[in-house]
Amino acid sequence: MEEFIAYPELADVKWGTASAAYQIEGAVGADSRSPSIWDTFAARPGATFRGDTGKRACRAYRRPDRSLDALSGLGAQVYRFSVSWSRILPSPGAAPNRVALGYYRRLVEQLLARGIEPIITLYHWDLPQWLQDRGGWTGAAAVEGFAHFSAVIAEALGDAVKRWVTVNEPYCAAFHGHLSGVHAPGHRDEGEALRAALMLINGHAASAAEIRRVRRDAKVGIVLNLSDLEAASDNPEDARAARHADLVENRLFLDLVLRGRLPDDAAGYFGDRLTFVSDGLDISALRVPLDFIGLNYYEHNVVEAAPDGLDPVLRGARKLPVTGPSSANGVAIYPPGLSRTLLRLAEMEPELPIWVTENGIGLADYIGPDGDCRDYERVNYLRDHIAALARARSMGARLEGYLHWSLMDSFEWASGYQLRYGLFYTDYATGELKPKASAAWYAAYIRGQRRLSGPRKGSWREKGADHG
Ligand code: FCB
Repeated sequence: MEEFIAYPELADVKWGTASAAYQIEGAVGADSRSPSIWDTFAARPGATFRGDTGKRACRAYRRPDRSLDALSGLGAQVYRFSVSWSRILPSPGAAPNRVALGYYRRLVEQLLARGIEPIITLYHWDLPQWLQDRGGWTGAAAVEGFAHFSAVIAEALGDAVKRWVTVNEPYCAAFHGHLSGVHAPGHRDEGEALRAALMLINGHAASAAEIRRVRRDAKVGIVLNLSDLEAASDNPEDARAARHADLVENRLFLDLVLRGRLPDDAAGYFGDRLTFVSDGLDISALRVPLDFIGLNYYEHNVVEAAPDGLDPVLRGARKLPVTGPSSANGVAIYPPGLSRTLLRLAEMEPELPIWVTENGIGLADYIGPDGDCRDYERVNYLRDHIAALARARSMGARLEGYLHWSLMDSFEWASGYQLRYGLFYTDYATGELKPKASAAWYAAYIRGQRRLSGPRKGSWREKGADHG
């Protein structure tokens, strides 16, 4: 492995990784934490692979030092993580839990001491169960509760944390949580999914307002997962199917967040279900100023018309099975889709800074007999997606940061522990982390970029190293 990887040159981009509370923390009953909808859902027979839950996960709540050392090993400049809502506010009306707040306070301080910028995600899918019992994201209680939770965290950590993500992937939380039912709370109702979509964006707007009320200088954004879609053929049915898939997965959220309106074809496609849920809601108020937009890029799909209408989310559209290179769970590996999606955002909002807040690949990684995990497919994935960033940047995308999913293998929602996404291999028996080949590659790339961006405190130049 080279010591420094200098190309493609993206020296002013910030490099890091992302994770989420329920996926890594474990200790689900510690310090008065109450269950979230993911504790409840994962306990339901058949809901997750092998019945896996986040009960222990990577044990990051007990051993944050392991994540911190892994980040230092990478030379990461940024770490995105989420705060567990039901640790901080375990019951209705509860005072914020001081012990749990202390955990996140220490995490933030230790990151800063290592020169790593913390980015906090406030909602990464773990709604407190007590709020689900009051209607969850289909009612107003979650929105009000989220505004309050956002204020509590901004007050506790806003002096040290500058950059905030309100909501992670509202598409998945709304449609997988309430229509396909593969995510918590596991419901199957299109009207509910639409209501949840609007309420999640409503929650985002309320959260952004609270963060800014508490910390005027905060930088606030939302994270959308956008998929790169292509019609299977030129025939009008396939083109219409691809347009509908794009409406549900991308445009609904882009238009609400960036334009404060519903896409023109939304009423025709969703019919009464949408009118019903949007009545009485001021949609234009859902658009709030953003300091950045976060893009989670995983998916490229070819879409064809499917008159059988078997897909609950896409109805008359269907995604074709992937024929080219793919991840262990059949997701296409398609770096041009990342360039295209970045350019799509840049075209909609040329001045808005973009962060790739997640991008990564699920593999069946293993430790070989010599003790190493040689995840060369992830090395290639990372290299090719970084090249895609460079392409989009050279064509005008205002990219500020790239966060790989994930720092370590973790609880992957319905896939449990079957899929591994980490740069670090998690030994689930002990919680120990071991760098994979991809971690070494990424560290060399980050070193190369930091070297190009000039002398910094503690950098190779200051130490007088000469690596020619
Ligand atoms: C995204 C989620 C993240 C992780 C990756 C693989 O949809 O935001 O938590 O599970 O997928």
